[in-house]
Amino acid sequence: MTMSKLEELRQRKEKIQQGGGAKRIASQHEKGKLTARERINLLFDEGTFVEIDAFVKHRCTNFGMEKIEAPGEGVVTGYGMVDGRLVYSYAQDFTVVGGSLGEMHAKKISKIQDLALKMGAPIVGINDSGGARIQEGVDALSGYGNIFYRNTISSGVIPQLTAIMGPCAGGAVYSPALTDFIFMVDKSSQMFITGPQVIKTVTGEDVTAEALGGAMTHNKTSGVAHFVSPSDADCIEEIKRLLSFLPSNNMENAPIFETEDDINKIIPELDEIIPENPNKPYDMKNIIAKLADDEDFFEVQPYYATNMITGFIRLNGQSVGIIANQPRVLAGCLDVNASDKAGRFIRTCDAFNIPLLTMVDVPGFLPGTSQEYGGIIRHGAKMLYAYSEATVPKMTLIIRKAYGGAYIAMCNKELGADMVLAWPTAEIAVMGPEGAANIIFRKEIADADDPQATRTEIIDNYKSEFATPYKAAERGYVDDVIEPSATRPRLIDALNMLASKRETRPPKKHGNLPV
Ligand code: HXC
Repeated sequence: MTMSKLEELRQRKEKIQQGGGAKRIASQHEKGKLTARERINLLFDEGTFVEIDAFVKHRCTNFGMEKIEAPGEGVVTGYGMVDGRLVYSYAQDFTVVGGSLGEMHAKKISKIQDLALKMGAPIVGINDSGGARIQEGVDALSGYGNIFYRNTISSGVIPQLTAIMGPCAGGAVYSPALTDFIFMVDKSSQMFITGPQVIKTVTGEDVTAEALGGAMTHNKTSGVAHFVSPSDADCIEEIKRLLSFLPSNNMENAPIFETEDDINKIIPELDEIIPENPNKPYDMKNIIAKLADDEDFFEVQPYYATNMITGFIRLNGQSVGIIANQPRVLAGCLDVNASDKAGRFIRTCDAFNIPLLTMVDVPGFLPGTSQEYGGIIRHGAKMLYAYSEATVPKMTLIIRKAYGGAYIAMCNKELGADMVLAWPTAEIAVMGPEGAANIIFRKEIADADDPQATRTEIIDNYKSEFATPYKAAERGYVDDVIEPSATRPRLIDALNMLASKRETRPPKKHGNLPV
């Protein structure tokens, strides 16, 4: 081969590597953002990333587009290793026509999606784009449609993670929304269906892009996003951390990380961690951390519906999904948002063969018209549905309150919990002592000489007889009442016992989740 041919190849590749050129790269850096290639390089193990489709070009001739060169078509796509495992990725390049998505840009992404699905490997999408490339009109819309379709077909087969590292507006938000997890970078990312100007015109509301669709808005208020990071580099670290808890696809198990942490560890603090007064809160996250290997808890959606905790720990090196009530927030009650958060997380874990550990301290569903009008019946049903549907090993640990329908919704025996353990502090009953006394002993209390004293006595009797784990254990609804200090070894033992669990469901097209 002549040197000139090789030289031409090198020059062509070098030009593509430069993306939108030095000026636009500098402007990207000024905004505190990395370029698409810098992000890709941070994500993949050094030297493992293989780019494909670098030479792809758009073929649009509308509005003078034939004169516009778009190196790499505004998106870098390829595959490589993340912590030694195969991962596919695309990263939109804002320095090239604003990372806007046209026909060929979309084709590059779709090709990567197809490869990831065929090979059974996770895909990480990095979004930084002005949305549909206006000049490409319906071809851009067709491109989005192809991506959304593939997101949906891949759902539950391979983990799909999306990072938002710049604008992501209009219909473009629906690809991230169809994926399993959304990461956002604080202050430099926004997601919205309609931007501030359109909102001003239509509803008259004044809102900044940050307040409308910034990282904290979606992490705290809307629940659209799962993680927020202070910078692109931190965000990519979080993505890698999450990948470490997930299998490559639905036919595999998550990787095992051997632990030095004692699997027989007795943790005496747990015997003291629940306050004497049942109405006093404590931080459930302390219990979760104590049980985990190396006290390492990776929380998912830490800012949204904080009365419900979701996240990952490892027990004896194995990934476990945690769903736990947080008694510090709304006393741990279930509400619309907490039910949505938990329901989605349970289904994510079940899809990817990650055993579930449900930690219960729930006084009930949150009362109020806002909850009823907000559809708590429909949303709460998602939890019942997700738990019943899940076939992964399901362990339930009842720590304190477990009352009424909320006790069922937190994966009781009948929803298929394989191992239900309770602490002696557990209160498992059809309803709280006060409510129960008021209903079944109303007449006795009203007729008593001293109604107040009688009421207190009845409540105390109810508490000591019914608000315990023993009534449930007598019926076998609880498999064992255990000493809190011995919880870690008991859970690890249960997980080992359940490792070969096989449970099938009747064939059907798909269930009808109450969405
Ligand atoms: C074509 C685009 C573009 C787009 C940006 N550019 N968005 N070109 N189509 N959608 C180009 C700009 O013209 C500019 O080119 C370069 O990218 C950089 O953009 P700037 O505006 O200079 O950057 P910045 O000031 O940082 O502003 C970023 C932005 C803004 C907020 C994203 O570009 C913007 O508002 N873009 C349009 C957003 C939008 O309305 N998109 C279409 C939505 S409709 P030059 O050469 O001048 O530097 C949609 C429907 C999808 O997405 C439906 C899917 C189902």
